[in-house]
Amino acid sequence: MATLETTLCGVRLKSPFVLSSGPLSYDGRALVAASEAGAGAVVTKTISRVKADNPMPHMARAAQHTLINCEEWSDLEAADWIEREIAVAREGGAVVIASVGLSPEAVRELVGGVAAAGPHFVEVVSYTEEAIVPMVREARKRVKMPLLAKMSPNWPTVVKTAVECVKAGADGITATDSFGPVLRIDVATARPLMGGPFGYGWLSGAAIKPIVLRIVSEIARAVEVPIVGTGGVVRGEDALEMLMAGATGVGVCSTPILQGLGSFGRLNRELAEALDRYGYNSPAAASGAALPNLVDIKRKDALTFDYCADECNECRLCVDLCPYGARHLEGKEMTLDAGRCRYCGLCASVCPTGALGIAGGLRNRR
Ligand SMILES: Cc1cc2nc3c(=O)[nH]c(=O)nc-3n(C[C@H](O)[C@H](O)[C@H](O)COP(=O)(O)O)c2cc1C
Repeated sequence: MATLETTLCGVRLKSPFVLSSGPLSYDGRALVAASEAGAGAVVTKTISRVKADNPMPHMARAAQHTLINCEEWSDLEAADWIEREIAVAREGGAVVIASVGLSPEAVRELVGGVAAAGPHFVEVVSYTEEAIVPMVREARKRVKMPLLAKMSPNWPTVVKTAVECVKAGADGITATDSFGPVLRIDVATARPLMGGPFGYGWLSGAAIKPIVLRIVSEIARAVEVPIVGTGGVVRGEDALEMLMAGATGVGVCSTPILQGLGSFGRLNRELAEALDRYGYNSPAAASGAALPNLVDIKRKDALTFDYCADECNECRLCVDLCPYGARHLEGKEMTLDAGRCRYCGLCASVCPTGALGIAGGLRNRR
């Protein structure tokens, strides 16, 4: 069985899964609970100069495995974290990443005290792209421990900013924060689901995974430091996908919120199985595995399909969803009208059993 142990900026983790900053990180005991449930490291709720005063409501399920939220930073005082909560998390055995936000002034004021409380890492996070590089500089001057900078998927030049953070002294990049602003409306009341200004919120969970994978892969090509790929990981294979895009650690926030802390045990099990299935003996062995395949060419090489009649359940999705009427199925006998087929690949992607796949390429696996 593959090991899940890994190293992030020189710190050993029992698992690559990191509880990212959010409601499950609200205090030291919550962080210990996540660590005991199987998280390799845990990020505190973002510590700032004034405690948050959250609008109500500020969290809702927006779609399957997907959340909308307008939760602010920590609703504890910075002094509570510095004097008590970080020590509680550390003494409880957690590998602690202390999140500090949300401006260069706040980092200047808080980061020394936060670091002195003994976390294993410091992470700086901001809502604005302009602030993050100065925040890294302020933190780097004051802390010796590994320093992570968290990127937002909403920043127009996020890859360039990640590079500048590394030049300013960041030892690693967390990518990404939640996506937005976004809106959901309750049609029965015509009111927004979120209680913040304009009803806007931020999207996280399954819906943002493709956005995050693209950003992680671009940052991985641009910097040499480790990346904590964070966004939309629901299952072990999502985590493997994040590693393959170039991540070293895998952050999760929405999945344990929506499924409970038990999801860390499940994610660990599923990732170990997925690593075994695809021939990797550790998370590090899979890290960046997809990068050589992400190349700037338009593939036009002849595409052929594989079909295994024994695995076909005759659901006919491949036939019914083909926009061109190119697929035909008689019983389990499959034929393709090559004159009509545009080789788009949709039929293979919707096959629920994996009976139909692209040769040497996509095949759904149960
Ligand atoms: C309710 C909620 C609160 C969050 N609060 C913070 C926060 O205080 N600081 C922070 O850096 N990120 C915060 N995040 C963002 C998450 O840490 C994470 O980057 C994002 O949700 C993407 O991961 P996911 O798709 O696994 O949820 C929050 C996310 C959610 C859903």
